[in-house]
Amino acid sequence: MKKVLAVLLSVLLAFSFAGCQSKPKTKEVKIGVAMYQFNDNFMTLYRQDIQKYFDELNAKDSSVHYTVEIVDGANDVNTQTEQVRTFISKGVDALIVNLVQTTSDALAKEIVNSGIPCVFINREIADFAYGDKTCYVGADARDSGTYQGQLIYNVPNHGDINGDGKVSYIMIMGDPENTDAQYRTEFSVKYLTDNGVTVEELFKQTGNWDQAQGQELVANALGSFGNQIEVVFCNNDGMALGAYEAIKAAGRTVGKDIYLVGVDALPEVCQMVKEGTITGTVLNDDVGQANTCCDTVLGLLAGKAPEKKVNYVPYVMITPENVDQYLK
Ligand code: BGC
Repeated sequence: MKKVLAVLLSVLLAFSFAGCQSKPKTKEVKIGVAMYQFNDNFMTLYRQDIQKYFDELNAKDSSVHYTVEIVDGANDVNTQTEQVRTFISKGVDALIVNLVQTTSDALAKEIVNSGIPCVFINREIADFAYGDKTCYVGADARDSGTYQGQLIYNVPNHGDINGDGKVSYIMIMGDPENTDAQYRTEFSVKYLTDNGVTVEELFKQTGNWDQAQGQELVANALGSFGNQIEVVFCNNDGMALGAYEAIKAAGRTVGKDIYLVGVDALPEVCQMVKEGTITGTVLNDDVGQANTCCDTVLGLLAGKAPEKKVNYVPYVMITPENVDQYLK
C-alpha cells in the first residue's frame, strides 16, 4: 500500500511539474494611450491600428500580455492632463500620447520627468527636448501640402477653369495650432506659386479638422463667391467630405467646374478618387505610423533608446492612376 501511494505521489508531482513547465507565467505590460479626441476620422483609424497591433502580439505570444487602455481627451487640455496623470500614478509601463495642445510643452515635460517611456504621435511640439525614453512619430506635413499643390497643378490649365489667368481658391484649415494645418495651408499654395501659377485666395477659415464644420464653411464660401471658386483645398479628408456635400448642394461638379483636394486617404475618399468625385488626396499612413509607433514602444520597453527622436513616415500622393493600390 505504501509503495502504491509513493508511486501515485511521484506521478502527481511529475504532472504538476510538467504543468508548471508548459505554462510559464505571463508577463503583464500596461500601455496607456491618450488620444486628443475620439471624434476624428483619421485618429479613429489610428487608434484602431494601435489596438490591432497589440491584439495581434497577444495572439501570437502568450508569454507577454499587453493591456492597452485608450482614453478620449475630448479635445480638452485639462481632461487630457488628468488622464495622463492617472496613467502615470497607476504606473503604466509605457505611454502613447496624441497631445491636445502643442503650443505648450508643459504636459510633455511632465511625461519626460515621470521617466515612463512615451511615444508622442500625430501632433508635434516644435523643438521639444525629448529625453532618452521619449520620441515623436508622425509625418512631415510640408510634403502633404506640396502634394496637394501638385494635384492641382496637374489638372487642365493648373486649375484656372475660367481662364482669367489666376487660380481662385478657398482654404479650409484644420486646428490652426497644429503644424499639420499650418504647413498644408502654406505648402499647397507654395507649390503652385513656385511653379509660376498666379493664385488668388478668396476665403480661408478653420474647420478644426471636422467634417460638419468643413461643410458649413464651404457652403458659406460658395454662397459668397459662387462660380469664382475654382479650387477647394481642405487640410484633411474629413473636411473634404463635408466640402463635397456643400459643392454637390450648390450644383457644382468636381472635376468639371471645381477642383477639390484633401489629405489622409480615408477609405471612403479613396473610393471617391476612383469615381472622380474628388480630384485627389494624400495618404497619411495611419497603419505605417501606428506600426512605427508601436515598434518604438516595444524598443523603449526593452530599454533601447529610440533611433530617431523625430521619426517621419512618408506621405503618398493619391490620384486616379494609383488609387487601386490604396483602396482598403
Ligand atoms: C490628420 C487629420 C487629423 C489631425 C488630428 C492630421 O494629421 O490629417 O485628419 O484630424 O491630424 O491631429
